[in-house]
Amino acid sequence: MIDPYSSEVLKPLYVKDEARRNVLLEEAEKIPSTVISSAAAANAVMLGGGYFNPLSGYMDLEDLIGVAERMETSSGLFWPTPVVNMLREESLSTEIKSSAKIALRDPNVGGNPVIAVQTVEKIEKVTKKQIREIVKHVYGTTDLEHPGVAVFTGAGDTLISGPIEVLNFSYFSTEFPDTFRTAVEIRNEIKEREWETVIAFQTRNPMHRAHEELCRMAQNELNSDGILVHMLLGKLKKGDIPADVRDASIRKMVELYFPENTVMVRGYGFDMLYAGPREAVLHAIFRQNSGCSHLIVGRDHAGVGDYYGAFDAQTIFENIPEGALQIQIFQGDHTVWCHKCEKVMMMRDCPHGMEDYLLLSGTRVREILANGEKLPPEFSRPEVAEILSEYYQTL
Ligand code: ADX
Repeated sequence: MIDPYSSEVLKPLYVKDEARRNVLLEEAEKIPSTVISSAAAANAVMLGGGYFNPLSGYMDLEDLIGVAERMETSSGLFWPTPVVNMLREESLSTEIKSSAKIALRDPNVGGNPVIAVQTVEKIEKVTKKQIREIVKHVYGTTDLEHPGVAVFTGAGDTLISGPIEVLNFSYFSTEFPDTFRTAVEIRNEIKEREWETVIAFQTRNPMHRAHEELCRMAQNELNSDGILVHMLLGKLKKGDIPADVRDASIRKMVELYFPENTVMVRGYGFDMLYAGPREAVLHAIFRQNSGCSHLIVGRDHAGVGDYYGAFDAQTIFENIPEGALQIQIFQGDHTVWCHKCEKVMMMRDCPHGMEDYLLLSGTRVREILANGEKLPPEFSRPEVAEILSEYYQTL
């Protein structure tokens, strides 16, 4: 089985040991606490679940700048995106500023329970200029219309770095008990199934026909043992389809159109960054940690609007340090409905031309549904279309 990223064993930061949990829970009542951002809480969930192995906590300014500029932490670890706890300075009390440990409260759960305890190594101010430089490198733009840039830029200017111990998985384990799984759990399940060649499919959409066929084509080409359909369960931009609706439609499609026991439908608790190429690399890292041998990267992977070239998320992998990643990328070409072939085709495998194609995309699917129109079968399986139309009627 593929090794975890940059280590032999996964080191999830979730505290399983009952005695240690009790010590931390008691300690959390006594030390200063603060409500963190949704992005920082999602980072805690990913660190807790082993997805961000081998990181031990939140990055400091040196790491943050190194990761943004060169995709490298100060210890030389290849890493593509910031993993930070950024706060507004005014939300930091004097107790927090002088405490060696702080309790991090979850903004996404009622009553703001403690999600993690952090050892404070440094508290550093990030200048506006540094924030602009960081987002330019990570998101390829400083445009505040970009949802990822808006979130990062609006998080505050104070960085609290240091290791964390994670106490729970926020709302993900309670709201999505059948779907949310940690990297540790997925790796164990893959091992139990005795799968070796495992294709991860990243998605933040209900799966339309191009998604489905990309999985099938990768499976046929790689002769894989199975597919992990791994959906994002965290926050998305306005207009994207909520996780419970996506979950239901993906499960229906898999149940009806894939052979039994060839697809695992699972989710991870993270807010979408929309960082295109950089996020694709992060996706590869955390699928390697989950035990997958391949990740599908298709057209405009993790993109939004026109910020990235259609295949930038594939070409970025040509420039990463040799041997940094063991997981391999299955490059999906533009996948379309071909009227002449009367099926979904990858353009590179199809002899016909643009005039014969219907372009398939999640954005187009959402537009059709938002207009109250029926999704044509070229776009979506009818059973999926039904679930999605029902949801759109409630809006
Ligand atoms: S993402 O933001 O999670 O990447 P989405 O769920 O739409 O968005 O895409 C999941 C995967 O399918 C990505 O690898 C993406 O590149 C790929 N993909 C989606 N639509 C197409 C298409 N029409 N042609 C090729 N690849 C596609």
